Amino acid sequence: MKIYECRTCGHIEFDRIPAKCLVCRSPETAFCENPDAIKQPADPGNLSDGDKKHVPVIKVSDSGLLADCKDVHVTVGDIEHVMDPKHYILYIDFYLDHRFISRVWLAPEVCKPAATLHLAATSGTVTAIEGCNVHGIWMSEVQI
Ligand SMILES: [Fe+2]
Repeated sequence: MKIYECRTCGHIEFDRIPAKCLVCRSPETAFCENPDAIKQPADPGNLSDGDKKHVPVIKVSDSGLLADCKDVHVTVGDIEHVMDPKHYILYIDFYLDHRFISRVWLAPEVCKPAATLHLAATSGTVTAIEGCNVHGIWMSEVQI
């Protein structure tokens, strides 16, 4: 799967470049292929504390709020990331079947490093990408 990164806002697209960035509206020329855009744990089977603070954790449940709905809860991460003005999670992006569906912006101090989306889709691959202002972009996926 090819990874394309918007050089204006850091938004990630998989396998195709949109006519305009779906987050910042920059033209398609703002995107470049960057296979290293998403950080990977050095040892996926044995995460360091730094990894655990950045790899998104995705939990999916039937909605207690809406009918025919899956609630997708994302936290960053298994060890809660700090939300200080100098070091915090900027956003959490959601994808379904590798197509972007939503970004949740997070402000330091007032927000926890977490977001929830309410999906009408009942199956597919859910991807969460988070952007840390110091440590870059990290990703997780689950099947629903
Ligand atoms: Fe960080």
